[in-house]
Amino acid sequence: MQQPGTVPWDDLDATLAEVWRCLGVGASARRSAFHHPTIATSGHDGAPRLRTMILRGVEPALRRLRFHTDIRAGKVAEIAANSHAAVHVYDPGMKLQVRMTGLAVISHGDDAARQAWQQSQPMSQACYGTRPAPGTPIGAGGDFALPASHSPELAEGEANFAVLRITVETMETLYLAHGGHRRAIFAWEGASLIRKEWLAP
Ligand SMILES: Cc1cc2nc3c(=O)[nH]c(=O)nc-3n(C[C@H](O)[C@H](O)[C@H](O)COP(=O)(O)O)c2cc1C
Repeated sequence: MQQPGTVPWDDLDATLAEVWRCLGVGASARRSAFHHPTIATSGHDGAPRLRTMILRGVEPALRRLRFHTDIRAGKVAEIAANSHAAVHVYDPGMKLQVRMTGLAVISHGDDAARQAWQQSQPMSQACYGTRPAPGTPIGAGGDFALPASHSPELAEGEANFAVLRITVETMETLYLAHGGHRRAIFAWEGASLIRKEWLAP
């Protein structure tokens, strides 16, 4: 949970700056609601698919959010077919909902993935050695194997490790207040902010 602070929620620029600040904090603060947003993709049947993911990094200047995932996960194939994604956060302490849309890109076996892998904790790296692959039907709940945290097999998980980056194209905020909610929308095209306005809540 973020500290509510004294954000001037009647100011569009301050609202936008506050959301990027919260995302930046969320990338490292485990207790922040921004640390574990919900990510939406489109399934192969066109229906939405949602899942929680840990926010690993934020590049505000590029409007980019970074996540880690397994190349074998269903979402990776969904993104390959349709790169449109959405991100949702609700921070109850701040009474703030943030909804974003953007384009998702997967990096696998490249410098970005290598660097992120090297910066990951052994405990996190172990997840990428899951056998069989995530989503495979198994006979009983425990019928899968993970490499031990400091075993040589841990390194094999790197082949499954992928970085998912979402470049934000629209952001909608909803701040809940007794005196009247505040809803705002921001949109970008390339590097340009093309929309910045209040909406009726
Ligand atoms: C708190 C929490 C954090 C999670 N973090 C991640 C994550 O960072 N990356 C990831 O791929 N899956 C993460 N998961 C698992 C996903 O929510 C999802 O179950 C899994 O990735 C399979 O999704 P898919 O079949 O849509 O690919 C997390 C789940 C929870 C509950």
